Amino acid sequence: MKKVTILDIMKMKQEGGKIPVLTAYDYPTAKALDEAGIPVILVGDSAGMVFAGYKNTLSVTIDEMRYHTKAVARGSKNALIVTDMPFLSYQVSIEEAKRNSGLLVREGAEAVKLEGGLSMEDTISAIVDMDIPVMGHIGLTPQSVHRMGGYRVQGREKKQREKLLSDARAVEKAGAFCIVLEGMPADLAKEITETISIPTIGIGAGPYCDGQVLVINDVLGLYEDVQPRFIKRYANLKEIISSAVNEYAEEVREGKFPGKEHSF
Ligand code: KIV
Repeated sequence: MKKVTILDIMKMKQEGGKIPVLTAYDYPTAKALDEAGIPVILVGDSAGMVFAGYKNTLSVTIDEMRYHTKAVARGSKNALIVTDMPFLSYQVSIEEAKRNSGLLVREGAEAVKLEGGLSMEDTISAIVDMDIPVMGHIGLTPQSVHRMGGYRVQGREKKQREKLLSDARAVEKAGAFCIVLEGMPADLAKEITETISIPTIGIGAGPYCDGQVLVINDVLGLYEDVQPRFIKRYANLKEIISSAVNEYAEEVREGKFPGKEHSF
């Protein structure tokens, strides 16, 4: 397998191949995804919820994202590593956005992702001008949970729909190589995908995007606090963990483990 670059991801849209993306926050998970041939690993700020147990992503700091990025970068050989810029790391000023995106790249990120469309056009463009590739993210943007009044599907009304189309065009114009479309009607995601030239990666945005992203803990059945309709669970690791630790505890209590073969 060869190292995946942003050029490969952009080419996949032109060639009509679908792009599977998954999140990872630690070394062993990144290694497993990389070895499975996942082309893009997103070090998402969803780490705040599914890894650290915060109730939303707003508490996540740039230092936490640096730590997760370092761990994922050590585990991944071929996948393109994209790290989320957390809340407050890019909204205050373009200078802060540039510095913080650079800090993530220093830890091993090969691109950064930030939320917002038209309002982030200049910020995206400034980061791209530093030669740091940017993945956009519009629609249901989790860092805007308070403005949205919860995690709600965006773009159902005409005005919102037009706004999201302009957001997508602004992200493309600013030089992003790719864009996440989250929590929007499938027909709107389809229209955006057909309108812009960069790949769209959907989550809760229907089947017509150029790719799909999911949070790894949702895929593996390791997070139950929030369960939106759009997730699909492919395994139930929580059950597997429970059964393994019960067996271990029972064997310790019964004096079956450790045995002679585990002793020196
Ligand atoms: O933080 C994250 O995991 C994300 C994806 C779900 C798109 O932003």
